[in-house]
Parts: sequence; structure tokens; C-alpha cells
Amino acid sequence: MPLSAVGAAVFGVQLANRSLGSLVLSLNGCYESGLYFLDLVEFLNATSARRRPALAPAPPEVSHFEVDNISFSYPGGSSAAVRGVSLNVRRGEMIALVGENGSGKSTVAKLLAALYDPDQGQIRWDGEPVTEARREELWNQVGFIAQDFTRWPFSARDNITMGKPVDLGSLRLASSRAGADVVIESLDAGYDTLLDRRFKSGLELSKGQWQRMAAARAFYRDCALLICDEPTAALDARGEQAFLHALREYAREKAVVLITHRLENVRHCDRAYVLVHGRVTESGGHDELMSLRGAFYELYQLQADRWAAVP
Ligand SMILES: Nc1ncnc2c1ncn2[C@@H]1O[C@H](COP(=O)(O)OP(=O)(O)OP(=O)(O)O)[C@@H](O)[C@H]1O
Ligand SMILES: [Mg+2]
Repeated sequence: MPLSAVGAAVFGVQLANRSLGSLVLSLNGCYESGLYFLDLVEFLNATSARRRPALAPAPPEVSHFEVDNISFSYPGGSSAAVRGVSLNVRRGEMIALVGENGSGKSTVAKLLAALYDPDQGQIRWDGEPVTEARREELWNQVGFIAQDFTRWPFSARDNITMGKPVDLGSLRLASSRAGADVVIESLDAGYDTLLDRRFKSGLELSKGQWQRMAAARAFYRDCALLICDEPTAALDARGEQAFLHALREYAREKAVVLITHRLENVRHCDRAYVLVHGRVTESGGHDELMSLRGAFYELYQLQADRWAAVP
């Protein structure tokens, strides 16, 4: 075979191979995108099925938040995440939700904040069922420090004021309540510092520093109901103590829900609800719960023993 024919044949085989490879990749891409598209269609169908007609206005300036005998299952969940839970919190009160991992604390908090609709039971704000009320008007009255809060790649100022007009006095107050003021003072450009290292002159904060920013964001909203889902998990001892005092202070005028694994923190609260497998099994103040000798007592003793074991 002449050399030119061999060269052309090798080149032809390589070209065919590459084209075949990219064809297979494109087909695979189409298949993958098709799956996402199916998800989108299912999601749109599900939301339009749940869209409610003409919603009523939400009660303004709410002072009493309650869930009454609610049960809730996540879509596709094998069992109910929350069963027959009743609890309430008023302005001027700080309550705690405690319990082991997966007991339903975060789910109850989201239900109380009207982020989910219960399968059974009622969520009432100032005695009005929230299911028929306009969601935005409800959510405008809630500040939520989520367990998995978002680290926005924006400036420190925007991270705190997110979605609200900037007011310097309120910004300073929210920062100092959350202990974020010390974080901001340590930054070269203060409130203007960009909190993402992927950008020029951007910085990255530590986990505890981020947690303070998330708390400041919730305080800045200055809402009637503040829900804090493990807000002190990454804070140092001094930070945690200061934060709990700030929460207590905030609870003079607002309703505060604190989710915590550190049972000692329940002493700062008016009462705690103990969740076991999605049910409230005990409720009351710290001393009352200890005297019940139930799940709270058992978990508290476990934590206390850990400290006692330190030489
Ligand atoms: N988005 C979700 N989708 C499906 N199931 C979920 C979802 N979130 C939570 N669950 C389930 O609901 C139950 C309660 O979860 P939840 O997050 O409320 O517990 P928790 O008490 O807040 O736990 P932790 O102390 O770990 O934060 C768990 O069994 C969990 O598997
Ligand atoms: Mg949780």
C-alpha cells in the first residue's frame, strides 16, 4: 500500500473515532438534560396543583405563634417527620426545641414559620390559620437563622442587610447583637469587604465568623418571630454566652425559638419542648424537665457526665 494511502487511512480512522466519541457524549448529555427536564415538568405540575386562589392578608404585627397537633411527612419520606406536635410561643418569650439528631426540630421550626404546610393539624398566628394567608406577608414577620445558612459571595454589608434597605444604625445594632461587629472590625475594608476569595481582594471567614454574619442577618430583619437553628454550634464559649444574652434581650419584645443541642442553654429559655422521633414527649422549664427524669434528664446527664469526666 502506498505510504500516502496508509497516512490517509490512519487519519480517517482517528477522525471517525473522535466523531463517534463526541456523538456518544452528546447523546449522553441529551439523556442527562432530559432527566432534569422531567424534574422541572414534575415540579411545575406539583406547584400549580398547590397554588391557592385569592389568599387572605396575613395578620399584622403577630404576637402569638402556635402549631396545633400538626403532622408532616417529607415527599417520598417513609415515615412522618413530625407527629401530633403542639407548641406555642408569644412575644416576650424564648422557647427551646431540643432532641437528638433527626427528632424533627428543624422541621417543626419550618412549619411554625409557615415554610411548609402540615399534612394534619393547624398552624395559627394570633389565632388565624396561616394556610390561607399570603406567604410573603407571613415571611416578612420571620427571621430565620437556618442550620445550613447561606454564605453569600457579597460584601459584609450586603450579607447582613440582604433584601432590606440599608440603615446604618440598624446594621450596627444587628452586628453587635450577633457578635459580628468584632468580625467586621477585623476586616480591612470593614462592611465593604467582599466575603469570597474567588474575587479580587475577597476574604474568607471562619465557620464561627460566618455564623455570626448569619445571625446578624436575622437580627437585622427585626421580625416578630426569630428562629435560631443551632446558632451557636460553631461559636467559642465567650461568643455563645454573649449571643444567648443578646437573644434573651431580643426576646423582651419578640418571640424567639432556639434549637440547641447544648441543654445547658435551656436555662436561658422560658420553656423547652423535647422531641423524640417527631413527637413532643416533654415540655417545661429546665428544672421541671429535670424533675421529670425523662429524655431531657437522660440527655442532660450524658452531657454533664462528659464534663465531669474531664480531670
Ligand atoms: N428535606 C428533607 N427531605 C426528606 N426528609 C427530610 C428532609 N429534612 C429532614 N428530613 C427527615 O425528617 C426527619 C427530621 O429531620 P429534622 O431535620 O427536622 O431533624 P432535627 O431534629 O433538626 O435533626 P438535627 O439535630 O440533626 O438537626 C429526619 O428523619 C430526616 O431524615
Ligand atoms: Mg436540624
